[in-house]
Amino acid sequence: MRAVVYADVRTVAVREVPDATLEAETDALVRITSTALCGTDLHMYDGRTGAEPGLVFGHEPLGVVEQVGSAVQTVRPGTRVVIPTHLFCGTCVMCARGLSAACLRARAEGPGAAYGYAGMGPYRGAQADLLRVPWADANCVPVPGEPGDGYEDDFVLLADAFVTGWHAAATLAGVEPGDTVAVFGAGTIGLLTAYSALIRGARVVYCVDGVDARLDKAGEIGAVPVDFRRGDPVEQIRADRARTGLPLGEEKLGGIDKVVDAVGFQARDRERPEQERPDQVIADAARLVNPAGAIAVAGVYPEKDLHPRPGASASEELVAPWGTLFSKGVSVRFGRTHDRRYTVLLRDLVVSGRARPSVIVTHHGTLADAPELYRSFDRRENGVIKAVLRP
Ligand SMILES: NC(=O)c1ccc[n+]([C@@H]2O[C@H](COP(=O)([O-])OP(=O)(O)OC[C@H]3O[C@@H](n4cnc5c(N)ncnc54)[C@H](O)[C@@H]3O)[C@@H](O)[C@H]2O)c1
Ligand SMILES: [Zn+2]
Ligand SMILES: [Zn+2]
Repeated sequence: MRAVVYADVRTVAVREVPDATLEAETDALVRITSTALCGTDLHMYDGRTGAEPGLVFGHEPLGVVEQVGSAVQTVRPGTRVVIPTHLFCGTCVMCARGLSAACLRARAEGPGAAYGYAGMGPYRGAQADLLRVPWADANCVPVPGEPGDGYEDDFVLLADAFVTGWHAAATLAGVEPGDTVAVFGAGTIGLLTAYSALIRGARVVYCVDGVDARLDKAGEIGAVPVDFRRGDPVEQIRADRARTGLPLGEEKLGGIDKVVDAVGFQARDRERPEQERPDQVIADAARLVNPAGAIAVAGVYPEKDLHPRPGASASEELVAPWGTLFSKGVSVRFGRTHDRRYTVLLRDLVVSGRARPSVIVTHHGTLADAPELYRSFDRRENGVIKAVLRP
């Protein structure tokens, strides 16, 4: 089968690799119809993780079951399925609590596993013709319709992007009707967090970024774009709050109830935008958040950065403004998405017409287009926000 593999820093290649096969009686083999590129893939692409050359990328699979092992009961060859990024056993104590991204059986070295990711277990990725899916009864989520229909892009986003946005808005930030929300980062995750916050009834959602196409998309989904190239985004949001009129008696609360970091450790330094500053977003979020508010960190922070910026070490401890966070009484929550909690809920919002996350998909290609799409996506060029490969 063909697969997109990591070749070197900022280089992927499309190669022939041995076909994925059934390895256990609980496995399914899925033929991929769509699979997306994710900002998380770029951490590997940029050489910031321990990815070995040859690693097959991809953790956002949608496809059709081709074969099942003898113990699989709920899906059959021909079933159209979406597969959550973090694969899980479905029966360990963490899975039983709905914490599938911390499954205790999927990876020998520790909790949690994912397809196609350095340090997340031996599972090959989904940017390929075929994918082996362990514990198929738990991991294959059926979706209606036919491959290539009008929901193809909505359903592929159920693997990772939409569930992460929903998790960030609903569970990490706890967005409730009437809340004011600000999301740093208008990539796929930031945009779908904003989209989820709006579905949940937020009063206003700001989206901070410095890339035109992404700011435009934020406006298109109903958020208020904030361009950090025009100055301090915290001041811009405070000014907008004051301009639109703060609720009577709440003038002292010039900030935002729920703030989301959808950027992670590769955040741009706003003073020197050609450089990274990993604590940029937490510093801004701490200033912006209202007393007793919440900060949700969905962006990735690795334990080791294999190519730290000049002057920093591989396992640098980031500084967070503890004093500000404590005196404001802010709750801060981190985390990988326990995807499977939300897959069915969000599938059914899509099917009922209440959500169309595909609005953020900008590019399509085949596996052969992956090297060029990765290049543009990595540079945040050519308007690439979310690219979907259709093998
Ligand atoms: N928690 C999870 O389970 C989970 C799942 C998927 C992705 N992620 C992570 O979420 C993050 C975003 O993913 P994505 O696919 O949207 O990536 P992306 O790279 O497309 O988007 C990041 C955006 O942040 C913007 N940005 C950079 N510095 C900024 C700053 N100082 N202030 C505001 N915006 C800034 C960039 O311009 C870019 O548009 C990544 O770290 C990714 O690894 C986490
Ligand atoms: Zn992802
Ligand atoms: Zn488990």
